[in-house]
Amino acid sequence: MTKYLNMTRQLNSFFKRVNKLTERELEAESTFFQVERLARKKSAEYIWEHMAPNGLFNNEQNYWNELLKQIPTRGLLFEFGVYKGRSINYLAEQLNKKGDRRRIYGFDSFLGMPERVNKYGPHKDKYDLKGIKPVVLPNVNLIKGHVEETFATFMDNLKLKDKSIAFMHLDLGMYQPTKYILEQALPYLKKGTIIDFDELLGYADWQENEYKAMMETIGRYCDFEHIAYCEPETVTEVKAAIRITRLYPTHR
Ligand SMILES: C[S@@+](CC[C@H](N)C(=O)[O-])C[C@H]1O[C@@H](n2cnc3c(N)ncnc32)[C@H](O)[C@@H]1O
Repeated sequence: MTKYLNMTRQLNSFFKRVNKLTERELEAESTFFQVERLARKKSAEYIWEHMAPNGLFNNEQNYWNELLKQIPTRGLLFEFGVYKGRSINYLAEQLNKKGDRRRIYGFDSFLGMPERVNKYGPHKDKYDLKGIKPVVLPNVNLIKGHVEETFATFMDNLKLKDKSIAFMHLDLGMYQPTKYILEQALPYLKKGTIIDFDELLGYADWQENEYKAMMETIGRYCDFEHIAYCEPETVTEVKAAIRITRLYPTHR
């Protein structure tokens, strides 16, 4: 009986090894795998060219803590793409700890992604909470709906003299709504505004998503510097934060 068990164990471990090898070989053969590798190499080159001194993180909490240290003390705080509230609740908790009494406004349809753009994009139903808002800390305000229908009205209705934006975390996962928000936000940006892109770099079509939206808006109307990057250990997408250093007179 023991002999039989040992043999089964040995066979199992042999087949596991063969399977792993085949997976690796298949990966090496796959064109898409090569595309991913090339995309990561290009991301690395981008970071190399736009280095953020002391700004390379592999833990997103440390990365966000650093951004919170650098945000202007006046101005609005936003997150676009809230889902279950993981990032917004973390940011809100840290604001509390810092004694920063500002609220953070979170925008989401809570309906997930409207479409799947291509092989690399998220599945249509991923992140679908059927419109139900998650539980958030008291210093978070959630605005439900598609950002294309909520953000402009929200800004128009705000009864504040200073509607400048201090910080925004963009995590909508797609080019179109990200570009829309950045275009709408342009009049409210100022020198010092920090914009945190959840997945600027590091995956096959990064140049078609947040990066493209950034270059077509911020890149056209502002000067900016990169202040931090974060590649969490569990994912390949790279977060990147920029600070606005100058707005061109035509930006509005
Ligand atoms: C990647 S998830 C956000 C994850 C979240 N920041 C976290 O840390 O868990 C992206 C979210 O963007 C939302 N979303 C995508 N397009 C949107 C749009 N046009 N308007 C509003 N919400 C949208 C989805 O409903 C989804 O919850």
